[in-house]
Order: sequence, then structure tokens, then C-alpha cells
Amino acid sequence: MSEIKTIGVLTSGGDAPGMNAAIRAVTRTGINEGFKVMGIRKGYNGLINGDIFEMNARTVSDILYRGGTILQTARCLEFKTKEGVEKAVAVCKKFGIDGLVVIGGDGSFRGARDLSLQGIPTIGIPGTIDNDIACSDYAIGFDTALNTVKDAIDKIRDTATSHERCSVIEVMGRDAGYIALSVGIANGAEVVLIPEQEFDFDEDVIKPILEGKSRGKKHNIVIVAEGIGGVMEMASKIEEITGIETRATILGHIQRGGSPTVRDRVIASQMGYRAVQLLKQGIGNRVVAVKDSKIVDYDILEGLNMTKQVDQEMIKLAKILAM
Ligand code: ADP
Ligand code: F6P
Repeated sequence: MSEIKTIGVLTSGGDAPGMNAAIRAVTRTGINEGFKVMGIRKGYNGLINGDIFEMNARTVSDILYRGGTILQTARCLEFKTKEGVEKAVAVCKKFGIDGLVVIGGDGSFRGARDLSLQGIPTIGIPGTIDNDIACSDYAIGFDTALNTVKDAIDKIRDTATSHERCSVIEVMGRDAGYIALSVGIANGAEVVLIPEQEFDFDEDVIKPILEGKSRGKKHNIVIVAEGIGGVMEMASKIEEITGIETRATILGHIQRGGSPTVRDRVIASQMGYRAVQLLKQGIGNRVVAVKDSKIVDYDILEGLNMTKQVDQEMIKLAKILAM
């Protein structure tokens, strides 16, 4: 195996706070290890189109605290094709890129595997506010998103209590309920609905709301993961059946922005460092992960084939504490 001399870094899929900290760590660790480091703009699009520039230690100054990604991100359909991957490999050769770090989610890792199989050793770093990367206990951006959502729901609770209303709040998570469940506990929600768990509207939504009212509760917070959807209709139904005035709020993309928390900055820095160490050893086709509070790495396919379950104890806890 020939020694890697030039590494590229890109962000792909949905952005997440802390991606910049990972870019900074990859760049500075790479320079420290004697690599030339290339930034690739707009995910796999930039790789296919050669939207690539050389990075130095100063390119990544003053980005640690910023949300989003300075490299920007994209969803690139062309890269899902054989021809797209071949184009990307040709561009890597043109720019001398012989190792790559991809910060993103499962879809991005599938692309990273394709590149590794085509001879460009590539390392994946989990970055998604949904925290739904099966092989990793943690993905960059989750903690910041939780804190953003927590602050927003605290504010909604103020007005819900003042008016003795019910608030139905949709949080992000198209396929995953990790945000909903965590803030359900952190914000003391009466009801939490997640895609991983079936629910009965009368039993799991209406009943706890009516019981809460009879116990003297002044508000009801119903947190709904995006994958469940239909919060407007749900709010109307709750109002109609319970007689409690109900409002719906979709928090939306506010959850994806903002300055990353300490946890996101530190983990992103550790993951970026690990990715470069792997490339330094000529190792590709790995995904960096957190397991039992330690930084580890897995074969990408092995990681993609893992499954992650929501913690049933968390679901139980959320219900008990909502009394
Ligand atoms: P995430 O990485 O957050 O899961 P996406 O699923 O949107 O986000 O994937 C990001 C990008 O990764 C896609 O736009 C595409 O370029 C690439 N990608 C996704 N799935 C595959 C796949 N099966 N094979 C190759 N590349 C893929
Ligand atoms: O980043 C993950 C996520 O926030 C999902 O929860 C959500 O469904 C999706 O991204 C929305 O992404 P976009 O609006 O960029 O298509």
C-alpha cells in the first residue's frame, strides 16, 4: 500500500453543529502529520465537479464556534451511480487526493465505502442531529440540537401554562425519535411520540392529557417526532376531544443551526483526530464512532449493518415523570 500524502475532507447530507470543529481537527491534525489537506465544497457534488481548494491552519481559524459547515453540504444523486463514483475517483487522482474524510450520515458512509472500494481510502465521521447512526452512541450535532429544542420548548411551556393550553410540538427526526425522547424527559413532556414506537391516539395521547387535567395540570406538552407528522391535525383533534385549547408548533430548521455545545466541539475534535490517525496508517473504509464513551472505529459495512434500539427505560421514565 503506498503512503498517503494528500487528504481531502468534505461534509455531506444534512448539516449539523460541530461539523466545523471536525473539519478543523482533520485539517490541523493532517497538517501536523505532514499531509497536504484539501477542502471539498458541497459534499460529493464538489468531489465530482472538482470544487476543491488547499486548506491550511488559518483556513480553519475562527470556525470552532460556528454552526453549519464552512465547506457547505449537499445531497448528490449523481454520486449514487457507478459513473458518479468513477468521476469522483478521477477527480481525486487529478488533485492528488489519496485519502478522504467524509462527515455525514449513513448515506454519506455508503458513498465513503464505494470510494474505498475504488482505491481511495475513506473514513466516515458521524454528523447528524438525529443521532441515528447505528454503530455510534453519538453523532456530532445531537447535543447542540437538544439544547436548542430544550430552550424552545421551555418558552412554549411558559405561554402554554399562562393560557392553560396544550402545545403539540414537532421536533426533527424523520426516522428517529432520539431528539423527541431526550427532550421529552428534559422538558417534562406529558406525551412523547416517536417513529420507533406504535401508539394509540386515545390511549397514549388523549387519556394522559385528560388525566393530567383532572390532577390539576395547567398545561400539556405533546412532543411529536417529525416521522410521525400531522401535528396540525393532531392539535385540532386534541382540542375537539378534550375541550382544551391546543396550539401546534413545528420547530423546523432552527434545530439544525447554532453554535455547537462543548460536547459537540470536543467529540468532533476527537473524531477528526482519529480519522486522520487511521489514514496515517494507510487504513480506509472505517467509520469513527463513540462506544461506551470511547472513540472507536468500525468497518463501514459492519457499521451500516448494525442496528440501534431506542432505550425502553427512557420511554418508561418519560411516562412516569409526566404524572
Ligand atoms: P446522510 O449522509 O445524512 O445520511 P443522505 O442520505 O442524504 O444523508 O446522503 C448524502 C449523500 O451521500 C447523498 O446525496 C449521496 O451523494 C450519497 N449517498 C447516499 N446514499 C448513497 C448510496 N447508497 N451509495 C452511494 N452514495 C450515497
Ligand atoms: O439532519 C437530519 C434531519 O434533520 C432530519 O431529521 C430531517 O428529516 C431532515 O434532516 C431534513 O433535512 P432537509 O430539510 O435538509 O431535507
